[in-house]
Amino acid sequence: MLSIENLSVKVEDKVILRDVNLRINVGEAHVLFGPNGAGKSTLINTIMGHPRCKVVEGSIYFKGRDITDMPIDERARLGIGLAYQNPPGIPGVKLKDLLKIIAKVDWEEIERMAEILNFKDFLDREVNVGFSGGEVKKSELLQIFAQNPDFMMFDEPDSGVDVENVKLIGHIINHLLEKDRKPADRRKSGLIITHMGHILKFIHVDRAHILYNGVIACSGSPEEILNTIIKYGYERCIKCYQKRRQNG
Ligand SMILES: Nc1ncnc2c1ncn2[C@@H]1O[C@H](COP(=O)(O)OP(=O)(O)O)[C@@H](O)[C@H]1O
Ligand SMILES: [Mg+2]
Repeated sequence: MLSIENLSVKVEDKVILRDVNLRINVGEAHVLFGPNGAGKSTLINTIMGHPRCKVVEGSIYFKGRDITDMPIDERARLGIGLAYQNPPGIPGVKLKDLLKIIAKVDWEEIERMAEILNFKDFLDREVNVGFSGGEVKKSELLQIFAQNPDFMMFDEPDSGVDVENVKLIGHIINHLLEKDRKPADRRKSGLIITHMGHILKFIHVDRAHILYNGVIACSGSPEEILNTIIKYGYERCIKCYQKRRQNG
């Protein structure tokens, strides 16, 4: 589904990502951990095609096509979707109207999902204007549901969300990623950024990565990596990474 090779990215003349390699197969969901400022949002904004993220080296392939220089709207049409960490408010545009424009599923389905999310009252509101942290996350999730992309990225879908809604959002992400189907029937893939393990109780993830200082410092089993971070912090992962580098 997605293959990133030797990717280096600059934002405003500052190198943020260095030599990132990542491969996500059809049916897989990966999680990206990392301290604040590591470059996590930059990585998924680059995959989406944000013009501020300048690729200085390497390539991004999606469904076998080189999308490295492709504009953001073409990537969206090809089937890449991103639920943003901090999306802007859009005064004058009702959420309902935005959803109708981007929708690839029937309006009835969107209404049903809005109901499941306890979010029907917000359809007539302006997009993200005056929304609380948790409401913004639901608005983003509903937009992803409407777009129905094959590859979904969620940038901290759980930050600022209360415990009950983390469970709800987690269950819905798991469903969107078709993790409630048997492996042979899964056609979607995803990349999720989170700081907290709580949401991962509800989402089946296949693989985890730690991004540190713009570099993927470790990849492996989500449980093992999460437990290490919770127990010892990122410090231990970074020391381990440095040791592995010294050992070649
Ligand atoms: N517009 C910008 N101009 C300069 N630096 C930026 C800009 N946006 C992000 N950065 C820097 O890029 C680094 C990575 O940011 P980000 O990808 O948001 O990290 P994360 O999502 O892991 O917390 C940070 O040091 C941040 O300050
Ligand atoms: Mg971020």
